[in-house]
Amino acid sequence: MAIRKFGTVVAMLACAAPAFAEAAPKEREVWITIGADALEPARASFQQKGLTLPAPALEKGGVAVLRVRESQLETLAAAMHDKLNRCAGFIAHDTEEQALAAVEGSTAPQPLASLVSYTLNNGPSVNAMLSGVQELNIRNTINYLSTTWTTRRYNLQSGIDAANWLRSQWSTIANGRSDISVALYTHASSTSPQPSVIATITGTTHPNEVVVIGGHLDSINQSGSTAAAPGADDDASGVASLTEAFRVAVANGYKPARTVKFMAYAAEEIGLRGSADIANWHKNNSVNVVGVLQLDMTNYKGSSYDFGMVTDNTNAAQNSFTTSLISTYQPGLTWTNITCGYGCSDHASWNSAGFPTSMPFEATMSTDNPQIHTSGDTLSVTGGTAANSVKFSKLAVSFMGELAKGATTGNTPPPVDGGGGGGTVNTATYDATLKAPRCTAAGAGCDSGTLLNGRGGLGPEVNKPNTINASCTDGASGTYHSDESNDRLKVATVDGTNLKAGKQVTVTATVWAYSATSDTLDLYYAANASSPSWVLIGSYKPSGSGARTITANYTLPTGTNQAIRANFRYQGSAGTCTTGSYDDRDDLIFTVQ
Ligand code: BES
Ligand code: ZN
Repeated sequence: MAIRKFGTVVAMLACAAPAFAEAAPKEREVWITIGADALEPARASFQQKGLTLPAPALEKGGVAVLRVRESQLETLAAAMHDKLNRCAGFIAHDTEEQALAAVEGSTAPQPLASLVSYTLNNGPSVNAMLSGVQELNIRNTINYLSTTWTTRRYNLQSGIDAANWLRSQWSTIANGRSDISVALYTHASSTSPQPSVIATITGTTHPNEVVVIGGHLDSINQSGSTAAAPGADDDASGVASLTEAFRVAVANGYKPARTVKFMAYAAEEIGLRGSADIANWHKNNSVNVVGVLQLDMTNYKGSSYDFGMVTDNTNAAQNSFTTSLISTYQPGLTWTNITCGYGCSDHASWNSAGFPTSMPFEATMSTDNPQIHTSGDTLSVTGGTAANSVKFSKLAVSFMGELAKGATTGNTPPPVDGGGGGGTVNTATYDATLKAPRCTAAGAGCDSGTLLNGRGGLGPEVNKPNTINASCTDGASGTYHSDESNDRLKVATVDGTNLKAGKQVTVTATVWAYSATSDTLDLYYAANASSPSWVLIGSYKPSGSGARTITANYTLPTGTNQAIRANFRYQGSAGTCTTGSYDDRDDLIFTVQ
């Protein structure tokens, strides 16, 4: 098993001997890794001395990578000692590669805009399928997979036998439907003698757009290749959850508009091999995979939260769509953000191949099933029931029904592209009277496009400060796309119909973040753009540094000419026009029916 957590690394950092002690030419630049919690105090301490701490190039798993002048290491060491009581608290590296390698695992660059519009408007079909999900079916699948073979190891005959069994189970579920195929996906034998298994429901109207729901079929015992590895939770539970989603889809005559592929990956436990092969195949064949859901460990409730949403190596916009599925279709269930700190499961293969992916997990990182990768990972650990997996199976059903759209027998398929009800998302133009971007035409949404990119005089922000009546100017410190800026704002109805009082809308803000820990976005709305009285929607933290998408929902009030404001700030507390010198705010004005 790979080292799974960063806790140890951070702890080692806490009192590591500073690696910069040897003499070196002046003003050389070095790369450092530092605990992300130390960024904020270090930046403040630099600011006090009239210096600027550069923005991190990467921040993940609680560790940030940044480039500093060697002469600044002294200041940094002093800051760490004064503010955090750490001996040095960071490690210097000669090259960027070495620093990045220290922060194992990477997040592929994500497109600024989502590939698809996320709408929730397929309730009748989703609910029809949800009511069919049965714990007993999930339990039976977990039971069969975890007790029929000693191990489902990728390179043993039993691992191959398990794949063949699953293929025949899925073929039975497919029930002869001509739009469904079930097949083994074979890998090079050096990659994995065990094949992966894929069931495909071909989309009715958008067959070239693909939604993937996957989990891994193999199991492992960390102490030896022939040792028992029942893998009931890791990951018979994920495979069983998605098998039940597939079953209720067929049982309800579900015909998706987009193609849906259910996948049970081979050889995850020895380095995500099956999923890497499959994700790269989709990439190399230019298949438009619009979304991937990974289910790995679903049956052990380790935390008070029902779902831990993995934020690293996943797509922020799709994660927020996924949590909106939870609040809509399983109200009352709770979730929290978690990080693996490295590519801990097959979602990372899809993320590396450039596809949007999400991984809802059974617990937080420190509260997961302690029996995984041992002979003790049996169904009895979870009391012999699959009750917890039901939530994940239902989440998979709602993900499929809303992302692949289409309908079950007797229901009407909603539009796939979010343009339903005739509304389109308009692109704003600058309104010289109100002094901010505005969409005057009625539509399903309004998008600032490129008008807001940058902050004040930093970057291309035309018509700065882009606040109504120039009511708030932007902070002037720092560097474009190293320090904070609001880059884009969009508001659009959740159901794809036109903007109208009483409708739920999603605000999508694209920011350039300096740091996940010290930056916050305050979002506000106003019923009357000409004389705005701002109401706070909420305050949100970016998931990391660099380009990040943040979404929030609210209900449109009455008023024909409304506005939203984004106040992106470094430290401080929520406000419509905070005073920090790195702060940016931008408004967007739009017509509401
Ligand atoms: N299900 C685990 C990943 C996991 C375990 C996530 C505990 C969160 C908490 C997965 O099957 C696994 O073991 N992955 C490997 C990584 C892989 C690259 C070999 C791991 O974590 O060591
Ligand atoms: Zn595992």
